[in-house]
Amino acid sequence: MTTLLLVFFTTTQLFALTSLALLVSGRAVHVNTCRSYCGNITIDYPFALRSGCGHPGFRDLLFCMNDVLMFHITSGSYRVLDIDYAYQALTLDDPHMSTCESIVLGGKGNGFAIEHWRAPYLNPAADNVFMLLGCSAQSPLFQGFPSKHLPCRNVSGMGCEEYYWCSAWGVFGPKKLGSGTGPPECCAVPFEAIKAINLTRLECEGYSSAYSLAPLREIGPGGWSYGIRVRYSVQGNEFCRACEATGGACGYGSDGVRELCLCGSSNSTSNCDSVKSSSSKVGRSLANTLAGILGCIVTWRKMHQT
Ligand SMILES: *[C@@H]1O[C@H](CO)[C@@H](O)[C@H](O)[C@H]1NC(C)=O
Ligand SMILES: *[C@@H]1O[C@H](CO)[C@@H](O)[C@H](O)[C@H]1NC(C)=O
Ligand SMILES: *[C@@H]1O[C@H](CO)[C@@H](O)[C@H](O)[C@H]1NC(C)=O
Ligand SMILES: *[C@@H]1O[C@H](CO)[C@@H](O)[C@H](O)[C@H]1NC(C)=O
Repeated sequence: MTTLLLVFFTTTQLFALTSLALLVSGRAVHVNTCRSYCGNITIDYPFALRSGCGHPGFRDLLFCMNDVLMFHITSGSYRVLDIDYAYQALTLDDPHMSTCESIVLGGKGNGFAIEHWRAPYLNPAADNVFMLLGCSAQSPLFQGFPSKHLPCRNVSGMGCEEYYWCSAWGVFGPKKLGSGTGPPECCAVPFEAIKAINLTRLECEGYSSAYSLAPLREIGPGGWSYGIRVRYSVQGNEFCRACEATGGACGYGSDGVRELCLCGSSNSTSNCDSVKSSSSKVGRSLANTLAGILGCIVTWRKMHQT
């Protein structure tokens, strides 16, 4: 009976010890505390919903409200339709943007203008066309150019000539088209040409934005995708790769600048191995001590049994 008890006792102790040793020496697997979802959209590096997570260039950018992902910048809030991590692009929708079905005037649209400090990280794609509608003759668009129509042009085969074929124009019609006086009803520009789509500053009544992922020639404006295609980029991604490779989640410090590797119970300015090597040293010596004590107990009991 005593033998049986002793065997049971030492077995449980050994089991506890083994678990402890495994826990301490083995590479702990952290759950990535920064990855999340909003509706059916995965939010992953460099984006995050939690403050302190993701890349600092994308901080305070995305918000999830009732499973709707919102993108917030200087010019306003947009709904995020998609995040394409492979092509590093986001697709945004502005409800006050004109499409092929409807034209929204009255200057209600957001346009697109981004904080200066975010410009290195986010920019509308080069093949995204912005079509400015009903701009005044005094608009900066038509000033300072040798020919007043100069900045207006097709972007990746998308432009106003095609856009005029949309059913939405059935109601308004490009009134001044070809009249030779006054500005055109629509002026298409790439973002790069004017750096900010600010309807107030440009004195425009509305705008549309389109991009196309498929070859364009045949489909026409009814087949364009309406929305703002934004490319994002993260310079020096090595920090995050090293952090994630050691089981960490990429984040940043309270200064909103310094990158941090979030390693569960602690943070590191490099990666989680630097955190673990010090903590596991402590753990290993603790495990050794415990093993020593257990060994003594077992020996002591064995001696008293005989
Ligand atoms: C999310 O779901 C909507 C329909 O509910 C679908 O149109 C959209 O493509 C989905 N987005 C992703 C990223 O799966
Ligand atoms: C680690 O950094 C994150 C993000 O800055 C912060 O929320 C968290 O409190 C930090 N944890 C520790 C243990 O310092
Ligand atoms: C747009 O331009 C107006 C007038 O110049 C300015 O007051 C406003 O702050 C600008 N908006 C953005 C988002 O830059
Ligand atoms: C580009 O613009 C011109 C007029 O400026 C138009 O005739 C032409 O059809 C447009 N589209 C393409 C795909 O070039």
